Amino acid sequence: MCVRRSSKGGWGKAALPPAKQPLLPGGEGGGEGLQTLGEASPPHPALRATLSPWERADSVSVDAQVSGTTPARSGLSPCQTQMRIEFGGEPVVLDACGALYLERRGILAVADLHLEKGSFFAARGNPVPRYDTRDTLERLEAAIVCYRPETVICLGDSFHDCAAGERISPPDALRLEELMGQASRWIWLTGNHDPEIPRRFRGEAALLHQAGAVHFAHFPETPVRPLIAGHYHPKLSLRLADRHVSGRCFLFSQELLLMPAFGAYAGGLDTRDTALTPLFPAGARQHVLSYRGKLWAIDRG
Ligand SMILES: [Fe+2]
Repeated sequence: MCVRRSSKGGWGKAALPPAKQPLLPGGEGGGEGLQTLGEASPPHPALRATLSPWERADSVSVDAQVSGTTPARSGLSPCQTQMRIEFGGEPVVLDACGALYLERRGILAVADLHLEKGSFFAARGNPVPRYDTRDTLERLEAAIVCYRPETVICLGDSFHDCAAGERISPPDALRLEELMGQASRWIWLTGNHDPEIPRRFRGEAALLHQAGAVHFAHFPETPVRPLIAGHYHPKLSLRLADRHVSGRCFLFSQELLLMPAFGAYAGGLDTRDTALTPLFPAGARQHVLSYRGKLWAIDRG
C-alpha cells in the first residue's frame, strides 16, 4: 500500500551567503509544482550582507574540483554550483540541482523523484501539467552527464505510486532506461510511495545500501549512522528585508544527511517542522539552501 505524507510550511529569518555561479537550467525551486524562483539578477544587498565560513573557504563553484565532471553534451550545463563537505569520513559534493556525489565511491544520489506524480493527480481530476517526469528526468540526465557516476542511488519515492510504471509515457520510460544504462550500477531504494519498483525498470531494489561507512536509505529513522536519507523533502523559507527566499534544502548533522526532493512536483517540508526535531541533536543542524541555482549556507542560529 502506498502512503502519502503531508507537509507544512513556515517562515524564519537568517543570514545568507551568496554563491558565485549562474542559474541551473530549469526545475529549481521549492514548493508544489514546477515553481521557479525567478531569473538571474544581482543579489539583494541583504543577501550579500553576511558571508558564512563555507562561502569564504569551502564553497565550490567550479567543475574542476570534481574529477570527471566535464559536461559532455551541449545544452546541458549542470555544473553550476557545488559545495564540498565531509560526511561519514567521505568527501561529498552537494549540488544545487539537489543531487549529491560521493567522490571516492563514484556514487550519485538523488531522493524523492516522485515520477508520475503529475499523471497521478491528473487521473483524479486535478488539471496539473503532466510534464513533471520529463522535467525530472532531464535534470537527472544533466547530473549524470556532469558527474559520470559509477553508481546511481535513488533514495526512495522514485515513483509516486505503485502504478506509475504503467502510466509513464513510452518516451519517458525509454529515457529513464537510457539513463540507467549510463551507470554501471543503479540502485532503487524503496520508499513509502514505491515499496515495489516497477518491474519494467532494471536495477537493484533494496531498503538499505552501504558504501564504506556511509549508509543510504529512504527513511531517516533507519537505525544506522552515518546515514544519507530522503523522505522529508526539506525546504527552507525565510524573509530578508523585502525579499522572500525559499528553496529546497540539504539538512545535515555529522550523523544524518537529509536530501532535498529531486522530483519536479515533490514539494517540501519546512526545516523547522517538528517532525524533523527528533532526528537531530539540538543545535547540530546545518542548512544548505538551493536558491536560484546556487547553494547558500544558512545560519539559523
Ligand atoms: Fe517523498
